[in-house]
Amino acid sequence: MKNVLVITLLLVLGAFLLLPTDSISQLDITKLTVTQQQQLEKAAASKAALGKKLVSTLTAKMKAEGPVAAIELCNTEALPLTAEIAAEQGVRIGRTSFRLRNPQNMAPVWAAASVESKVKDTQVFAGSDGSLSVLYPIITQANCLTCHASVGMVAAPLVTALHEKYPTDEAFGFIEGSLRGYFWVEVAAE
Ligand code: HEC
Repeated sequence: MKNVLVITLLLVLGAFLLLPTDSISQLDITKLTVTQQQQLEKAAASKAALGKKLVSTLTAKMKAEGPVAAIELCNTEALPLTAEIAAEQGVRIGRTSFRLRNPQNMAPVWAAASVESKVKDTQVFAGSDGSLSVLYPIITQANCLTCHASVGMVAAPLVTALHEKYPTDEAFGFIEGSLRGYFWVEVAAE
């Protein structure tokens, strides 16, 4: 009788473990399979492409028309540019932070806990569907301070323009070298 019970329990447990669940778990970046390494390379290339595109577009606009116009550009262009890179590279990609300026940049569910705890290293996650998701820290550079330093240090017209567009803005108060936020990338199974 006892044996039957144990066997039944084991069967139930086994069935439970075999059920397809859409789960995601963190991986050790030094212990990836070859496929995962390829996915990681794709994520890194996508992140680099987006970073380059955003910085070059922003710098050109700031030089030509000043920071207030550049805010306008971030406001209207950052997300379409992000969508463009996603389509080009065949990934899902975005930027996020533990202190958001734009509420549309909310972290994906798999990254939320790491973002909230302000992790400082690159983190890799595997989906049960074979996808690989990566979170890359973004450090504040001197040229980011124009729009992300503390309110008292940002030019008044900029603060006004930012408040108007982002009433819930939490992205002031950063200093050079501090963690500003993250790029996140999701690469589907090969
Ligand atoms: C001209 C002003 C301006 C400058 C300079 C600027 N940003 Fe931003 N930043 C914005 C605006 C506006 C947003 C919100 C719109 C968006 O991009 O989605 C934003 C959003 C972000 C986000 C997305 C998370 C969030 O808070 O919504 C990150 C990450 C970020 N900025 C990092 C940086 C970094 C790093 C630099 C320097 C390389 C930088 N920014 C320079 C204006 C600026």
